[in-house]
Amino acid sequence: MSLSPVSAPAVTILAIESSCDDTAAAVVRDGTVLSNCVANQEIHRLYGGVVPEVASRAHQTNIVPVVAAALGQAGLTPADVTAVAFTQGPGLIGSLLVGNAFAKGFALAHDLPLITVDHMEAHVLAHFAEDPKPAFPFLCLTVSGGHTQIVLVRDYLDMEVIGYTLDDAAGEAFDKAGKMLGLDYPAGPLIDRLARTGTPRFELPEPAVPGLNFSFSGLKTAVLYFLRDQKAQNPNFVAENLSDICASLQTTIVTILLKKLRKAVRQTGIREVAVAGGVSANSGLREALRTWGEKEGWNTYIPAFQYCTDNAGMIGVAAHYRYLAGQFTGYEAMPYARR
Ligand code: KG4
Ligand code: ZN
Repeated sequence: MSLSPVSAPAVTILAIESSCDDTAAAVVRDGTVLSNCVANQEIHRLYGGVVPEVASRAHQTNIVPVVAAALGQAGLTPADVTAVAFTQGPGLIGSLLVGNAFAKGFALAHDLPLITVDHMEAHVLAHFAEDPKPAFPFLCLTVSGGHTQIVLVRDYLDMEVIGYTLDDAAGEAFDKAGKMLGLDYPAGPLIDRLARTGTPRFELPEPAVPGLNFSFSGLKTAVLYFLRDQKAQNPNFVAENLSDICASLQTTIVTILLKKLRKAVRQTGIREVAVAGGVSANSGLREALRTWGEKEGWNTYIPAFQYCTDNAGMIGVAAHYRYLAGQFTGYEAMPYARR
């Protein structure tokens, strides 16, 4: 008589991300992303930045259809879900509250356990959504619209921030400089596109910040004065040199980031080097990580585009490791704006 193998029941997580202006839902089964849906809120372009009240109202409109799409694309129903995960913070409180309340309601209605996820940890764990995966310990440069960090990742749930920005984030530097150039919000992807046809011939300052920390507010001010002085001589300066200005700005930001990353590698001796977060979608940063990595002898890891900018797939992957560790939360969990 042969016995059929007993397989463990699948862990199927419905994950929700609503920390800023993207409403996202995903289904992750046993650590594999089955669906990853995002509704972007185009409305903020009108205002040149995210308007928190507008964002939370749009999350309310989007959340039910986005969750339905995520379950539908995975070919599942609520009865197949074993746990519900949501981003607890950091982010905009009003935006986080929508995902938080929806997740709790869904969990209550279907009698499911809840898992809270930190948004920045999830950006790091986005690396485990697909191959190749970094080996522990690794360094992760996590660059988004609100954060710039070098994270020492010892294990899925054991991370230490060893460098951070003292003021603006790298994504903010892209977006604010872009605003000065008259570009729509978010300017990061537009600068990336324009930089491809430009030459980085304008010199912008790199800040002298000790240790592994960053600062981008000086660069923002330098761009402001540079544009003011150039426009005083030629009112059409921006229009005539847009691609070159974007290439110069992008090269400066990427160089600042990579020099600190190289310093972190030299200090820690860790040669597994990853990037994550919205700014890791930047083609200049992706290319520079590869070339610096080859020169310095690093193994480099860059997530697929869909796992760089805000998404719920990364929340589900992070939640999967919390599920395995038995880290569940009660209905009293409240969102936090900052760590
Ligand atoms: O991680 P993310 O989607 O949201 C936050 O957690 O903040 O990051 C958004 C940031 C924005 O500042 C956006 O301009 C920037 O990522 N970004 C880029 C690119 N794509 C997104 N910056 C430069 N180049 C890109 N291709
Ligand atoms: Zn993010």
